[in-house]
Amino acid sequence: MAISKMITSLIVAIAQNNVIGKDNDLIWRLPNDMKFFKETTLNHHIVTGRKNYISIPKKFRPLPNRINIVLTRQTSFNEEGCVVLHSLEAAIEHAKNNNETELFIIGGGQIYKEALEKDLIDKMYITQVHQEFEGDTFFPKIDNTVWKKVSETNNPVDEKHQFPYSFVVYEKLS
Ligand SMILES: NC(=O)c1ccc[n+]([C@@H]2O[C@H](COP(=O)([O-])OP(=O)(O)OC[C@H]3O[C@@H](n4cnc5c(N)ncnc54)[C@H](OP(=O)(O)O)[C@@H]3O)[C@@H](O)[C@H]2O)c1
Repeated sequence: MAISKMITSLIVAIAQNNVIGKDNDLIWRLPNDMKFFKETTLNHHIVTGRKNYISIPKKFRPLPNRINIVLTRQTSFNEEGCVVLHSLEAAIEHAKNNNETELFIIGGGQIYKEALEKDLIDKMYITQVHQEFEGDTFFPKIDNTVWKKVSETNNPVDEKHQFPYSFVVYEKLS
């Protein structure tokens, strides 16, 4: 069987001070970012840490029309409608064997950090929220010697978006 060429991407929304979450929840409400997340990840494999997964309200999970891979070190964890695996490498292998073209790592903090440290990521879709927040989960500092910004769309405050935000895409410098 031919194995598809696949890239591994991550998608995340980051505050100005690198905060991404607090008390196992998201902090801000930016409907356009939720929409962007849905449109970008739809029909792809997504990989989430167990904590991020259970932070999604029950009625919204598994995320529909996506293959939800949940990472845990627990051997007895089971979740209906999900693929439960025990390492990032196994998740990547699973998506590849399933003919995925772009796999999305959707967090949280532990999973992003490990994927970047192990150099597993090819592309990053980052929503920069132009505001500082208090939180307990952070995204690693983006290394400009490794990552090149390839697009940026700036969005102002409006009646549904309390903070300005930008959609930024980074690709790895070759
Ligand atoms: N702003 C954003 O875009 C964004 C996106 C996603 C998440 N978040 C936020 O991030 C926070 C959650 O992040 P977190 O760092 O606390 O947790 P996490 O990364 O979502 O999940 C951590 C859990 O994943 C499992 N895990 C981690 N590394 C593993 C490995 N190498 N192999 C197998 N399993 C592994 C472990 O599960 P077990 O304990 O079951 O073994 C671990 O406890 C929340 O506040 C959430 O809202 C923000």
